[in-house]
Amino acid sequence: METDHFILNLKSDKDCLFDSADWPKPFEFSEAVVKVFDDMVSRSVPLYRDVNESVLFWTHSYYQKDSAIVDLGCSTGTTLEVIGRHFKSPIIMLGVDTSQPMLDVAKDKLAGLSKRHQIDFLQCSLEDVELPKASVIILNYTLQFIPVRKRLPILQKIFTALKPDGIVYISEKIRYDNLGFQETTNRIYENFKHRAGYSQSEIERKKEALDQVLVPMTIEQLSAMIKTAGFSVQETVLKWNNFVSIVAQKS
Ligand SMILES: C[S@@+](CC[C@H](N)C(=O)[O-])C[C@H]1O[C@@H](n2cnc3c(N)ncnc32)[C@H](O)[C@@H]1O
Repeated sequence: METDHFILNLKSDKDCLFDSADWPKPFEFSEAVVKVFDDMVSRSVPLYRDVNESVLFWTHSYYQKDSAIVDLGCSTGTTLEVIGRHFKSPIIMLGVDTSQPMLDVAKDKLAGLSKRHQIDFLQCSLEDVELPKASVIILNYTLQFIPVRKRLPILQKIFTALKPDGIVYISEKIRYDNLGFQETTNRIYENFKHRAGYSQSEIERKKEALDQVLVPMTIEQLSAMIKTAGFSVQETVLKWNNFVSIVAQKS
């Protein structure tokens, strides 16, 4: 797989949502967020480009012909677009998200690829979705927005939908049990957001809006949940302070 000129197809306005006096709280994936989402996610998630490049390689290695590649919480379709652009032979892709405005942007972003690939989008929650037989399922930065008690059933559903040897690629924000470590990692993450151009007030307002909405687990909790769902093989494939990507296989 050639990724010499690996680029993400990011299409949105600049994220200034938390710069205004009436900043949205609590955080939700509203139409206002959709308008700025690509800029927001690429400036708020460390290693966002690297994670997508990594997803592409894992997908390329584990995709099985005549099965689906499913992106759960696909948002504006950035990951599916990367995969679709790099696969030269036809593949089957499905993007799932609760937000129709997100899916509208995704459809537009992938329109040029629909001649080569079978691409479908489904407006549905992960709690209710019925998944097709898949060899690769992507779950990036979405489980963290789902109530903790509903996370295991979703991972179990993913396990059931996967074909033997299929993989799930999971990325999440995580937390540390140790308070001192958590404070230090918070400062490192704040510094990352400053470097990405966010002001201190934007950072603090977004943090307040996400409180109780984005609920991170420790890496141990996440890993145990993946194992309980049925996956006997899992590896951390990327990590940046309080962000992690794990690949688990149905072996
Ligand atoms: C942080 S974004 C995911 C980012 C995306 N995977 C990426 O890498 O660019 C979370 C997405 O999950 C969707 N979402 C939130 N709760 C959901 C649920 N219960 N079921 C399905 N989608 C959900 C939101 O609409 C949003 O598009």
